[in-house]
Amino acid sequence: MTDAWKARMTIDPAYRVADLDPRIYGSFIEHLGRAVYGGIYDPGHPTADEDGFRQDVIDLVKELNVPIVRYPGGNFVSGYRWEDGVGPVDERPVQLDLAWRSLEPNRVGLNEFARWAKKADSQVMMAVNLGTRGIEDAKHLVEYCNHPGGSYWSDLRRRHGVDKPHGIRVWCLGNEMDGPWQIGHKTADEYGRIAQEAAKVMKWVDPSIELVACGSSHAKMPTFPDWERIVLEHAYDEIDYLSLHTYYGNRDGDLANFLACSLDMDAFIRTVVATCDFVRAKKRSRKTIYLSFDEWNVWFHSNEADKQVEPWQVGPPLLEDVYTMEDALVVGCMLITLLKHADRVRIACLAQLVNVIAPIMTENGGPSWRQTIFYPFQHASNLARGTVMHAPVESPKYDSKDFTDVPYLEAVPVWNQEAGELVLLAVNRGERPLPLEVDVRGFPGARAEEHLVLAHPDVKAVNTKERPNEIVPAKRAVEPVDGGRLAVLLPALSWNVIRLSV
Ligand code: AHR
Repeated sequence: MTDAWKARMTIDPAYRVADLDPRIYGSFIEHLGRAVYGGIYDPGHPTADEDGFRQDVIDLVKELNVPIVRYPGGNFVSGYRWEDGVGPVDERPVQLDLAWRSLEPNRVGLNEFARWAKKADSQVMMAVNLGTRGIEDAKHLVEYCNHPGGSYWSDLRRRHGVDKPHGIRVWCLGNEMDGPWQIGHKTADEYGRIAQEAAKVMKWVDPSIELVACGSSHAKMPTFPDWERIVLEHAYDEIDYLSLHTYYGNRDGDLANFLACSLDMDAFIRTVVATCDFVRAKKRSRKTIYLSFDEWNVWFHSNEADKQVEPWQVGPPLLEDVYTMEDALVVGCMLITLLKHADRVRIACLAQLVNVIAPIMTENGGPSWRQTIFYPFQHASNLARGTVMHAPVESPKYDSKDFTDVPYLEAVPVWNQEAGELVLLAVNRGERPLPLEVDVRGFPGARAEEHLVLAHPDVKAVNTKERPNEIVPAKRAVEPVDGGRLAVLLPALSWNVIRLSV
């Protein structure tokens, strides 16, 4: 006889998904809204350093422990001339950014961003413009960034004060080229060909780079998943990763349905993996294409406000979602979903990092604070490193408007063998506390160390400048492991981190 309102899982060292690639905890800074101007860069700010970068923001990014940051877009990149952002700052042109109807002053360009990334202990993941530009420009950019010297573009970098090459390893071949909103939108065949040729030439300049081709902008695109198939049929041999993007929102106030949206993300990943492997079979190839889920988050709160923003401003307040407790739960479920696919998802980027649909918010010239979604990301990125474990969950389930059999418990264990630690990330989607029994008999001597919880009596509660600590994680008492079994109670609508020493 089993309890109906109880979840169970077994974690055994024999069952592993993969050693996770730390780049699964990547993020994204686009020249959009106040991400750059007023976000990472605010020369008049009291904490600004000699380069005009806010130290308080760098400190928060370090708390998130982000190993790689995608740059400079996003939709922005499809009209971007990277040359406008290098060389003497006062000679750089101010350009119209058509993607976000903003003014781009080019006071921050790739050399400044690379400096910032270094200060934030992160790597740059660079996107080339395959909207208005093409192969030649992509070749010049790789040469400028990665070639040591002795050629026009690499020497230009040196004249710009950057003697050593940036050594940027991961490059995106454009952005969302399947989307009609994109400058230079393409058909799958058009994109597949230019991605293939640009990739070939970029690798001729620097064979050590890794390339990400654009997959679909989201799984509801009419061209999905034919887009993936066709692009791969052209570019399979030249690329290393295929991108996925997705954003969710609780537009109709249906909490149960909103919390289930990570099941859609899971199905999206499975379909893209299947499509990659279909093309591999068709090509009789032995190469595996990995996934770069390089835009994911909740995004909907700011949609209406954005329609009122005056165009052609520098750093306008665009996409400034204020995240609720329920958004943090969805972000937690999405993180768990990405980790469960760590065998194929090698790179992922929380979109974005500062002010624009972001875990970190700032006021221009004023304070910075952590949004609710900061915490699940911070916990996972800092604590869940090592080997993702395969641990099927037995959980009560529910049906919602768009999903059936949604487990109340979403969970994944990650085993850090070096640290001797097993970390369980778990979300309770239910509106009442959920008892969970974890069988860890496969780890003799396992000891429960810590249970961190993010929860709030009001799922619509938010952190703001005035109340930055309305939602913060709390520690709960942990029961000792008894006979190889750990019993925990997951509070209603909560994000949980359970740490065991093993
Ligand atoms: O992250 C915001 C935008 O969402 C990006 O610029 C674009 O790639 C996507 O549609």
